[in-house]
Amino acid sequence: MTDKTFTTTQTGTPVASDAHSLTSGADGITALHDRYLVEKLASFNRERVPERNPHAKGGGAFGEFVVTEDVSQYTRAAVFQPGATSETLLRFSSVAGEQGSPDTWRDVRGFALRFYTTEGNLDIVGNNTPTFFLRDGIKFPDFIHSQKRLTGSALRDADMQWDFWTLSPESAHQVSYVMGDRGLPRSWRHMNGYGSHTYQWVNAEGERFWVQYHFLTQQGVEPMFADEAERIAGQDSDYYRRDLYDAIERGENPSWDVYVQVMPYEEAKDYRFNPFDLTKIWSKKDYPRIKVGTFTLNRNPKNFFAEIEQAAFSPGNQVPGTGISPDKMLMARAFAYADAQRYRIGTNYNQLPVNQPHAAVVSNYMHEGNMQYHFNTAEHRVYTPNSYGAAGGPEADPARGVEASWETDGALIRTAATLHSEDDDFGQARTLITEVFNDEERQRFIETLAGQYQALTVPAIQERFFWYWGQVDQDTADKVRALALSTADASADPVGVGE
Ligand code: HEM
Repeated sequence: MTDKTFTTTQTGTPVASDAHSLTSGADGITALHDRYLVEKLASFNRERVPERNPHAKGGGAFGEFVVTEDVSQYTRAAVFQPGATSETLLRFSSVAGEQGSPDTWRDVRGFALRFYTTEGNLDIVGNNTPTFFLRDGIKFPDFIHSQKRLTGSALRDADMQWDFWTLSPESAHQVSYVMGDRGLPRSWRHMNGYGSHTYQWVNAEGERFWVQYHFLTQQGVEPMFADEAERIAGQDSDYYRRDLYDAIERGENPSWDVYVQVMPYEEAKDYRFNPFDLTKIWSKKDYPRIKVGTFTLNRNPKNFFAEIEQAAFSPGNQVPGTGISPDKMLMARAFAYADAQRYRIGTNYNQLPVNQPHAAVVSNYMHEGNMQYHFNTAEHRVYTPNSYGAAGGPEADPARGVEASWETDGALIRTAATLHSEDDDFGQARTLITEVFNDEERQRFIETLAGQYQALTVPAIQERFFWYWGQVDQDTADKVRALALSTADASADPVGVGE
């Protein structure tokens, strides 16, 4: 039994009551100098911080990553050396819905994985799909706006979503994933994660490789069906969050195997697809998966707000031996996350326990700003270069700060031009639907699309919907049309996207 504790103000002074304000007489006015009342109300008024825009609804847990194989020929990163173990944090999320939105609305799921490594934090901020809707970050705000709400009615709107998608044909591959079973996983435990982008690895000799991360669930990939998802959305909007939390509390710790596809640096130039185009996957026949290790989630957060809500992942958080690539989306993301977090959490968000490195030391010449918590000794200079040797502060070292790199010498232009023979918008979507989906998966996909169509109201968008799917696969488009029109008076939007 713990000792009884007594209420204090935020500065530790004992308080007399948590139930009665200080008033002048029983029915008199409230005293402004009731410091505890004022502090309590003021604190309450500041509890909410902006939610993530996007990926607001989510949940997560901590765990451990163990390297079981030897991939040192591809990367010098300490986190991936044979036998290395690292603490991890994984946050799952939905993309479009707000913080209170039901987990089982159809959507892509975020899969943001942090490794607390001895060389600083490595974040692979991906999804449960290996591709994305876009190939240029300049379109991302428009895409997210189309997924969120109309400005007038504040309603979500199927017309808006399909207007954007069908006018952005590069979205077809990812839309095929999300309208298929991946859009409704059985739980966060039952889905794979992907880095989605191409990243770079650098080995101890300085050789460079392009890599794609795949995190394959040991629980098995399992879908949830649309009618079940709709029912659960009404009964338990936190279904996935609860499932993860309860599983870990029961000791059923979920695990994922970490794999990479590795492309030799020089092969990127002539690969049949642009390997830096996020709307494409690399064929596993061309680049088979290579196992790296396994991570297991084994610890729930003790405080959701402090450890999950304030977690600040960024694809820009790379370590020596890993890095980004010339993927236009990834380069935009390398800027966007830290910028969002300075606004969402505050200037010194990286000093919070969940964000500070757990296995490395921070040392540089940045200081002060809102909520500074960590500080250097008084001898530590606030500028570099300085004359004070080791006591004066750290020294940057190119041999330690190994960075990803690639050759570039073009004029500054804005273009969608591509140099790879099989680049197009629809080919890989067609392969997914016609060759990867089995018959049941394809049938569910057709039913989902027919339901989506029925939520559309604008003729130009309805027409473009069938054009878009016809470009992917005419036979599938015809089946969607036949089903959508034959059940046109059935209830619209059975999958909950247009709520
Ligand atoms: C969250 C921007 C593309 C996955 C976020 C956040 C921003 C953002 C601002 C909120 C960050 C925060 O407040 O902590 C962008 C931009 C993109 C982009 C500008 C394109 C240029 C992508 C892609 C993926 C992705 C391609 C997956 C492959 C995620 C995930 C989260 C997230 C998983 C939630 C991270 C967490 O759990 O805290 N994105 N994003 N985003 N994004 Fe992106």
